[in-house]
Amino acid sequence: MPEKVKFSNRCSEIAGLPAADLARRFGTPLFVYDAAKIKERIADLAMFDTVRYAQKACSNIAILKLIREAGAAVDAVSAMEIRRAVAAGWPVKAENPDDPDPIVYTADIFDRDALDLIAGEYPVHVNCGSMDMIWQLGERAPGREITLRINPGFGHGHSQKTNTGGDQSKHGIWHEDLMRAIELASHFDLKVKGLHMHIGSGTDLEHLASVCEAMDRAGLAAGPRIHVISCGGGLPVPYNDDGEYVDLAEYHRIWREKLDLLAKVYRHPIRLEIEPGRYIVAESGYMISEIRAVKNQGENLFYLLDAGFNNLVRPVMYGSYHPIAVAGAKAGAPEAEVIVGGPLCESGDIFTQKEGGYVEKRRLPSAEVGDLVVFGVAGAYGFMMGSNYNSKPLAAEVLIEDGQPRLIRKRQTFDDLTADEVY
Ligand code: LLP
Repeated sequence: MPEKVKFSNRCSEIAGLPAADLARRFGTPLFVYDAAKIKERIADLAMFDTVRYAQKACSNIAILKLIREAGAAVDAVSAMEIRRAVAAGWPVKAENPDDPDPIVYTADIFDRDALDLIAGEYPVHVNCGSMDMIWQLGERAPGREITLRINPGFGHGHSQKTNTGGDQSKHGIWHEDLMRAIELASHFDLKVKGLHMHIGSGTDLEHLASVCEAMDRAGLAAGPRIHVISCGGGLPVPYNDDGEYVDLAEYHRIWREKLDLLAKVYRHPIRLEIEPGRYIVAESGYMISEIRAVKNQGENLFYLLDAGFNNLVRPVMYGSYHPIAVAGAKAGAPEAEVIVGGPLCESGDIFTQKEGGYVEKRRLPSAEVGDLVVFGVAGAYGFMMGSNYNSKPLAAEVLIEDGQPRLIRKRQTFDDLTADEVY
């Protein structure tokens, strides 16, 4: 289990480089990723047979390449994510059929683009999350191997919006329909070779372990056709000093024990896959932003930044907490209780808020216009959920590897922003 870092409201360096230098060279708002942290997190998961990176967390192709080179496989949830995986160098199919599928498409639907791509040019492995996916693939590409994403009837996440199990969730094939799904698959000559469950994002060991029990039941029902089991993603990372990691060794042990029993019944080995996004990239990422206004509204002090929920939407969407630090603030400098907001023409554009939109204050060093603010644990679902709201260009992204910063995404220009508009 990784050692927990203590968060501070001061931060001058990212991966050994001064935040001020990065901001000067690449501008703000800027996402910065520390390659070493990503590699470290993948290495933490080495006890699993396959680490499959859920690229929705951060899919810049330079990051995907790094993750591929570190030995992970990849998950894709759309046609374009499949294309990203291929662009990053993953082969469409494993050379040896016993090896893990390099790319797996996991979804609850095929949009027409994805189905055309998978039935044709890029026949990647499909993990079906609905009955309709089974017949749609079966009609177009009979004879393929598939896995089934099962909704075990319960779920859990850091927010109700990231809970992906239970009857209020649209995800997965309902656990009671498993045998019907297998029958439907065989009707189309699709071979079910594995099962998958992902109950939510940012959950805990107790809930993750209960998936194992549900999987055991599903695995026994499905029988010896099963060769691979995915326990999904969802591993939490600490976003504040109260946050915890999951005990990975223990988590792996619980799964391995169950799968070894199943393997005995089946009389063949079962591969165990894990499919995290956040765990691999969250802590590698930072967002640097500049303070552009400091104002008092009655009793409240606001720092208004050049980054808003167009850059980092998690606080607005889930009430998520991100560590916030003022770069270059001296130890012992005075502090204040501050509300931190962005530039958008919308009052919800506040980084310091709880779920439900309740504004909170954060104790931060006194700062002025021109000072930099650094958001931590911003590598997962940070840049990725950015938008062009208020015609703000998407931020630039930089990867630091071996002490060298490298631009991996240019900041958008007006021409980029309007390139697809017809006028
Ligand atoms: N596998 C499946 C099938 C998933 O749906 C997800 C996440 C993952 C793996 C990876 O989950 P992770 O290990 O990253 O928790 N935007 C939200 C998170 C939404 C996650 C959606 N699915 C956030 O910012 O917290």
